[in-house]
Amino acid sequence: MSNGNSYLEIKQSPELSGDVSLYGAKNAVLVIMASLLLTSGKSRLKNVPGSSDVLHMIKLLESLGAVVIFDQVAHELEVDTSGVNKWQVRQDIMKQMRASILVMGPLLARFSRADIALPGGCVIGSRPIDLHLKNFEKMGVDIDRSGSYLKTHASSLRAQDIILDYPSVGATENLMMAAVSASGITRIVNAALEPEVLDLISVLKKMGAKVDLEVPATIVVEGVDSLEPVDHDLVPDRLEAGTLLLAAAITGGSITITNAYADHLAVFLLKLQEMGHQVSYGFDGYGISFQATQSPQSVSFKTAPYPGFPTDLQAPMMAVQCLAQGRSVIDETVFENRLVHIRELQKMGAQILVEGSKAIITGVEELYGANVIASDIRASCALAIAGLAAKGTTTMTGISHWRRGYDRLEQKMASLGAFIKLIDSSLFTQKPSDQLSLSIKNS
Ligand code: EPZ
Repeated sequence: MSNGNSYLEIKQSPELSGDVSLYGAKNAVLVIMASLLLTSGKSRLKNVPGSSDVLHMIKLLESLGAVVIFDQVAHELEVDTSGVNKWQVRQDIMKQMRASILVMGPLLARFSRADIALPGGCVIGSRPIDLHLKNFEKMGVDIDRSGSYLKTHASSLRAQDIILDYPSVGATENLMMAAVSASGITRIVNAALEPEVLDLISVLKKMGAKVDLEVPATIVVEGVDSLEPVDHDLVPDRLEAGTLLLAAAITGGSITITNAYADHLAVFLLKLQEMGHQVSYGFDGYGISFQATQSPQSVSFKTAPYPGFPTDLQAPMMAVQCLAQGRSVIDETVFENRLVHIRELQKMGAQILVEGSKAIITGVEELYGANVIASDIRASCALAIAGLAAKGTTTMTGISHWRRGYDRLEQKMASLGAFIKLIDSSLFTQKPSDQLSLSIKNS
């Protein structure tokens, strides 16, 4: 289905209610698919979301020689990497998805070389990869930056003591996937320990890698000679969980997310409780039940690496602050330009001031439906959530972002009572008389 003419139509909705379950995490499945390049044979992944990023990663693996079967009904992916015989990622693939940089570590481990087109930045920031590159060089990788490609080669990867200036998720993952084949002990100090990183570690260990954690945040890897294909059930997507909880919060509803882990969202859930919402968990924190308060209070927070407040829930949480009582100060400390959704929320009547990396939100009585544009995956969630409470109808374009991050999330929200649907207006043709008519496309 084309994205060009499609948009989300969102109307003011009743209190969401019901039970819902999560697909596997987008930020786990992409890196775990890349990690399969470390093995030669058939691996199977379960609870795989049918998002466009997953489809892009499938195209990338196929371009390297892998054979991939994706059962989108069963959400199961089978990846056979025995035929992988290339180490160059095409520019058109790199441009579509930054996460393609995550094949660099596995390709260096498998072929001692990787030619990767420079990943573009995106609207939330320049997204540099200096932490990846300077530490790969420490591991003995030669990097030729002369062309539009990064041509990298390592006669043999060297185990290293690596200290990350910042707990970068991607750098942690990329370096770890190279280290599993570097003979000796590699230590990654100040590593990212997001649940998605831990899911990758559990996959690497299933493959036969030797990976351990040391407090406070050090990953210790002992290189091994070979790694085996795996079967793995992906960690549920905590960001999908947060988005669904915020949709329930803004409509005053009550929902249960049957397969969410509370400890993946501890600070976020604390903030919901500070707003006055009721949050309870199943045994061992598995399963989250939510009951919205009818008079939500504003809360303030700053984003931070895990276990802090996740930057990926900053935009959707801001949408909910727009209708809370009081004043909220949100400080986005992870990405330098992740406040682009504010302009669109202001179109809907939100009262938000920006001071550097901080947004100051003064709660209002109501928001109004508007035509808004999504600028990144999580901004699309913020606008959809605001639309559920806004008076009238909101149309959101830029839904390629929505599709990149989620598998038909609008259908999940609709199953809970939300008035939200994806309109593929390419099915409509504009008659000269401007009458809309449905043209049945020859399929
Ligand atoms: C991952 O991006 C996620 N993407 C992001 O999710 C998430 O927001 C981010 O981690 C932080 O949690 C995937 O996992 C595919 P970082 P990543 O390296 O790895 C700077 C979403 O919406 N930095 O932890 O790119 C960087 O610019 C996406 O699902 C460097 O300066 O994030 C940023 O300011 C968005 N140099 C900060 O670190 C580097 O070499 C965090 O980036 C690398 C990063």
